Amino acid sequence: ATIICSLQRRPRPEYVPNHISDPLYVRVFDTTLRDGEQSPGATMTVEQKLKIAHQLANLGVDIIEAGFPVSSNKDRQAVQLIAEEVGNTVDEDGHVPVICALARCSKNDIDAAWEAVKHARKPRIHTFIGTSNIHMAYKLNMTKGEVLEKATSMVRYARALGCNDVEFSPEDAGRADKEFLYQILGEVIKAGATTLNIADTVGYTVPREFGKLIADIKSNTPGIDNVIISTHCQNDLGQATANTIEGACAGARQIEVTINGIGERAGNAALEEVVMTLKCRGEDVLEGLYTGINTQRIVMASKMVEEYTGLYVQPHKAIVGDNAIARQTGVRQDVMINCKGRYQIIDPKDIGLTRDHEAGVALGKLSGRSALKERLHQLGYMIKGEELDDVFMRFKAVCEHKKREGDAYCMLRKVKA
Ligand code: KIV
Repeated sequence: ATIICSLQRRPRPEYVPNHISDPLYVRVFDTTLRDGEQSPGATMTVEQKLKIAHQLANLGVDIIEAGFPVSSNKDRQAVQLIAEEVGNTVDEDGHVPVICALARCSKNDIDAAWEAVKHARKPRIHTFIGTSNIHMAYKLNMTKGEVLEKATSMVRYARALGCNDVEFSPEDAGRADKEFLYQILGEVIKAGATTLNIADTVGYTVPREFGKLIADIKSNTPGIDNVIISTHCQNDLGQATANTIEGACAGARQIEVTINGIGERAGNAALEEVVMTLKCRGEDVLEGLYTGINTQRIVMASKMVEEYTGLYVQPHKAIVGDNAIARQTGVRQDVMINCKGRYQIIDPKDIGLTRDHEAGVALGKLSGRSALKERLHQLGYMIKGEELDDVFMRFKAVCEHKKREGDAYCMLRKVKA
């Protein structure tokens, strides 16, 4: 494998709500502060949300979904503060993120959303309504005709308030009747929607199916070429990242994601996974698609979200897990050491790992002699020959009884002493 992630960041195209100025550019819509916060136990304070929003802007996120203002006073306050501060801060590249607020298809929700986001330079209202038969019958108790009327009138209402960037989500689109989707999406475009977000609300679809859904919507919805298609993939079957990538390959130019993949139930597509997939494989197999994310700030954002939400990242989590990139255990340690940085597909520096994180190999019972030698070398001990054999034998004996790398470390210190 080669390292390909040192590719330069490409300039971000100009933002016009419903216009694709570069056909290969994929907008990143982060919903850590809204859908992410819906994870049980992930509630954040207003100050923490503001800090995360600044971090997301630093990362280069195009759209920050800051919250659901009608849901609580605190949420309204957080969205307004983020709109005022983050939504008016221009970065070194001249970029200001869009600040978005969620609203159901109701005047009350839309008014609350608009009051909170209108302070941003680029405000967006995101409104949604259930479109699957299950949602319409059991949640909304509405007919298709009533849902259609509600969706179009509420998009029109949001536009009439003065918001020129309105996103519409057909909730549970992954299980909805396709003909109905084409119809409702076509009507909300006429009513003024600028982004259509295809939500796989319960994470039901698989990649080939979700990709086809996006392609079918693109081919069959009247007026679709004048708006942006978006994906919102939940992770109930563990398919969220793959579905998002398939959606982008089929024509979506906005992806909805969260840091560390947090969100309701099994979470959402993880920003770091989708972005690094496009960065590593975009050029060769993913149609040349790219994002404007500054990937060197990924680890910083991940750590902040982990700390503020209390949702710990599993060690083997792709991209940001402690074991994911900089460490290799067991039989491949030799090749990693000999390849001097060319073995793994991502350069740790490219996601913002520092030298400390770059210990390179994690020691354990599967580690070989060269890994141990390398680590001793890093610690300042040049051991070889019989002396190394002796230390190695004693190291293995301790590892047999210890589970964690930290224990092996303690043992190394004992051996050294
Ligand atoms: O999962 C979902 O359907 C949502 C919508 C509001 C986009 O979060």
